[in-house]
Amino acid sequence: MPRLAQTVSMVAFFHTLATLTCARNTSADTTGPFYVAAVYEHRVILNPEPLVRLSRASALEHMMRNLEIYEQQAWLAAEQGAQIIVFPEDGLQGFNFSRVSISGYLETIPDPLIEDWNPCTQPHRHTRTEVLQRLSCIARRHGLFLVANMADLQPCPLTSHLDLELANPPCPPDGHWQFNTDVVFRSDGSLAARYHKHNLYFEMAFDKPPRLEVVAFDTPFAGRFGVLTCFDILFHDPTVKLLEQGIRQMVYPTAWMNQLPLLSAVQFQRAFSLGANVTLLAANIRDDSLGMTGSGIYPPHTAMYHYGKAGHPEGKLLVFRVPVLDAEWLATENETQGVTGGEAMVTEARSPVPRSEQEVDSGSCKQDSRRCQDESLSISPPSSSSPFNSSMMYDPFSFLLLRGSSGKLTVCDGPLCCHLQYQRSPLGGGTELYALGAFAGTHTVNGRYALQVCALVRCSGLEASSCGQEVDDAESRVNFRLEGNFGTPHVYPSVLGSGMVLEQPKRVEKTADGRVVMEHSGMTVGLVTACLYGRMYDQD
Ligand SMILES: *[C@@H]1O[C@H](CO)[C@@H](O)[C@H](O)[C@H]1NC(C)=O
Ligand SMILES: *[C@@H]1O[C@H](CO)[C@@H](O)[C@H](O)[C@H]1NC(C)=O
Ligand SMILES: *[C@@H]1O[C@H](CO)[C@@H](O)[C@H](O)[C@H]1NC(C)=O
Ligand SMILES: *[C@@H]1O[C@H](CO)[C@@H](O)[C@H](O)[C@H]1NC(C)=O
Ligand SMILES: *[C@@H]1O[C@H](CO)[C@@H](O)[C@H](O)[C@H]1NC(C)=O
Repeated sequence: MPRLAQTVSMVAFFHTLATLTCARNTSADTTGPFYVAAVYEHRVILNPEPLVRLSRASALEHMMRNLEIYEQQAWLAAEQGAQIIVFPEDGLQGFNFSRVSISGYLETIPDPLIEDWNPCTQPHRHTRTEVLQRLSCIARRHGLFLVANMADLQPCPLTSHLDLELANPPCPPDGHWQFNTDVVFRSDGSLAARYHKHNLYFEMAFDKPPRLEVVAFDTPFAGRFGVLTCFDILFHDPTVKLLEQGIRQMVYPTAWMNQLPLLSAVQFQRAFSLGANVTLLAANIRDDSLGMTGSGIYPPHTAMYHYGKAGHPEGKLLVFRVPVLDAEWLATENETQGVTGGEAMVTEARSPVPRSEQEVDSGSCKQDSRRCQDESLSISPPSSSSPFNSSMMYDPFSFLLLRGSSGKLTVCDGPLCCHLQYQRSPLGGGTELYALGAFAGTHTVNGRYALQVCALVRCSGLEASSCGQEVDDAESRVNFRLEGNFGTPHVYPSVLGSGMVLEQPKRVEKTADGRVVMEHSGMTVGLVTACLYGRMYDQD
């Protein structure tokens, strides 16, 4: 979870925002099988001294206060018909523990692939499992699948099914493992899945699991869901492995610090769901001092999301009707549907994307040129023609400024060239500066990952050096076509509007040769960022 990247300007930024909860649903989503999903953005009750070790009784007392809220929200969600609810990462204990100070919070979570266990109905089978029992009983009492995150202690040697055929990895020096863990309960309370977070983000209390776990679970109402946690969303493992298994629905507990202009929580949640063509059920923590808010339910072509208002920190429950995407489930349900099925069976109903490779300009940049010239010299003042370097999210982007109310420009970084055609409405024209940025390289601050990014951003001021800095409002509506020649098929598109409004791009198209085109028009608010965020997983 990008937490350390927090900057002071974040505080000012939060004060300008209003509570935002938006549902976009199109007529496309009125057919086909559905289920009802809930996510809860939880204002976690924190332990004020996470570095002081608590007794088990005190740690339990603390977690039970958060569990009370989970119980209420599960009840409210179930009343609205929810069949699954997702709670955020770190939502029961909070953050900033040391390996020792978290010990009172740990439970040993049995591997559901080895053992069937219903903690609610069989509470005495395993000792020191009060949190598991409570979560299980919440799921059972309210009759829904429940996804929560907690801290797991596993003795050495590991006994997971994953390890049976392999030599055991070396045990940590204190003789056991501690994992940041998602647990999934079925609606009868039985434990369905356990996932140990793979990509930790400065979490002193936890170990990285010695072997990757790719975890999914089945539901009777929508088929299979994959599990990932927070920072995992940026990495190949387990996220792309889940996609490669054909999993189209993901549950995603997170504790994500917003970082504009490219990685605010709702922006990247939307981008991932759209880019991977999956449904993401994302539950974030609400904590203003850490810059954490932004949760949502994101089928590929609609969304319900929430971005909290500063100064009024409170939890937020979202409940949304979502089309089933699991192809296998759809196929088998179809067979058995016969008698009861009144609805047409449509895998995913939406307007077809026009496919026309002819529309795509071939890049005018030579593949090896380090920087390209502005193509729009004829229609723009000469001052727009020189690329400049500026840091965005700690990465050295090459930028070109947009000048005038319309134009066409290209900026390149290494092998990546980003092309933009745009039309800006006059509104805000004279007072807002925009730039097109390109970056191809490895991000190295607070995590290491290889990127290729094309981004149209509103600069925070009127100086070129302000391009790439955090800003969350804008007045200029921009119709645009953004294209890049990516060296990866994993490109995550997003359009972020003023006041943290997500817009659904009108068209996103990937061609076999790696080009990605995103087009958008008719914005309802000003443009903050339009981004094609490419991940070069194989170069990490
Ligand atoms: C947790 O650590 C972050 C820095 O990583 C710090 O900003 C924050 O105040 C800490 N929170 C608590 C509750 O100690
Ligand atoms: C779609 O929006 C309408 C209101 O415009 C709402 O009543 C309905 O519940 C929404 N559908 C879904 C799937 O949430
Ligand atoms: C569902 O059943 C209909 C006939 O009832 C059939 O035409 C259709 O191909 C089936 N769809 C799938 C995904 O199996
Ligand atoms: C997304 O998935 C749907 C099936 O759920 C499929 O029809 C559609 O072509 C996919 N879109 C892309 C861009 O791959
Ligand atoms: C930008 O930085 C690169 C090195 O990262 C350098 O080669 C290039 O000349 C710089 N461009 C400008 C316009 O300063």
